[in-house]
Amino acid sequence: MLAIFSSLFSIATFLLRFSAAKQLQSQTKDQTQSTDRCGSSLVFSVQGDIYRNGFFYAIIYIGNPPKPYYLDIDTGSNLTWVQCAAARSAKLLKAPNNPYKPNNNALFCKDPLCAFVDQPNNFPCKAPTDQCDYEVHYADYGSSLGVLVRDSFPLKFTNGSTYKPTLAFGCGYDQEFSGPFPPPYVDGVLGLANGKSSIVSQLRGFGLTQNVIGHCFGGQGKGFLFFGDDFLPSGLVWAPMLPNSLNHYMAGPVDLLFGGKTLGAKGLYVVFDSGSTYTYLNPQAYQTTLALIETALLKKPLSRVKDGNLPVCWKGVKRFENLDAVKNNFSPLALSFTNTKNVVFVLPAESYLVVTSHGNVCLGILNGADAHLGQLNIIGDITMQDKLVLQQAPQALNCVFSLGAANFE
Ligand SMILES: *[C@@H]1O[C@H](CO)[C@@H](O)[C@H](O)[C@H]1NC(C)=O
Ligand SMILES: *[C@@H]1O[C@H](CO)[C@@H](O)[C@H](O)[C@H]1NC(C)=O
Repeated sequence: MLAIFSSLFSIATFLLRFSAAKQLQSQTKDQTQSTDRCGSSLVFSVQGDIYRNGFFYAIIYIGNPPKPYYLDIDTGSNLTWVQCAAARSAKLLKAPNNPYKPNNNALFCKDPLCAFVDQPNNFPCKAPTDQCDYEVHYADYGSSLGVLVRDSFPLKFTNGSTYKPTLAFGCGYDQEFSGPFPPPYVDGVLGLANGKSSIVSQLRGFGLTQNVIGHCFGGQGKGFLFFGDDFLPSGLVWAPMLPNSLNHYMAGPVDLLFGGKTLGAKGLYVVFDSGSTYTYLNPQAYQTTLALIETALLKKPLSRVKDGNLPVCWKGVKRFENLDAVKNNFSPLALSFTNTKNVVFVLPAESYLVVTSHGNVCLGILNGADAHLGQLNIIGDITMQDKLVLQQAPQALNCVFSLGAANFE
């Protein structure tokens, strides 16, 4: 989910890298042996999928004694929050675990971190000793309102050390959701955009990890997430990344290719957002892409059908059991980074199609206009599946934000 506020993107020249196939496993070995770096890494296993759940989540433990929370992994927003039994009137969504119970651990408005969350109109900070409330609205019509609290996060680092740093996060006592897809069945959101309020940024502040995140969402429903730089494969080819006022991981310009040929959709900027199930293109790019896919299908035994799950679907002569049964009819799409030589992010059929329970194949690229995204283009989970996606912000003040994606299969 993309947190949305009205600010415009500001664009400057920064660095981002993308990679071609590299063997992650063999390369991480040497890297983990280096000793003179500050901090180690954290690795979390990831569960979820595109079609049945519509999201990927990590299990994070909070409190003493620690309790588990399933958190939607969201590189499109920067605040981590959990549903919270703050008051009897709390408005909570259905969730897999019991809500978090706060214990007089709210942050005050005078706390420096309070400056990095958006405050609710109804409960703005008036006095330094007021509690620090936050409100976040997502592009998929979800929202969370709550109070910032601090509690301990028991964490086991990859070097074997365990720590319980006290981190700030949101205790969400009023969640609403009105999107076209059902709300993710989770206890909260793990906000991993590049803001000061994110827990990765707090861990970095304590010198515990580097400001690097990476994730790999497996097409088969498993994967991993890490914070820290122990797992950066070497030999990546990098492409420019654009900082912006919303701290989104934005890259570009890219040209869209279909079957290796340019689509006419050029100079796009794309935001990598693990909180979005599907990929969204601006209306023009979307129409061009759809038209080309349809033209290529004219000679194939597929016809348009209403499926009820997604807006554009096709049926075959008989129902498809899985994507393997139909993917040969679809050419790969690609994002070609025009400012950087040889940087092409290839989207095989798996990266933009799903097979539904009705046995139809549907386009997992949606029209951004239907989600009121304006000219924004969003690369969602479907397109990041089976790819290692890295986001890096080194410690230097004039940070170079980097984002890379490596096909590591
Ligand atoms: C392991 O990593 C932690 C967290 O980054 C660090 O504080 C600690 O000193 C490291 N331990 C060793 C033995 O290197
Ligand atoms: C990150 O936090 C800032 C507040 O510091 C907020 O203005 C911005 O919208 C947030 N970005 C995202 C992507 O949530």
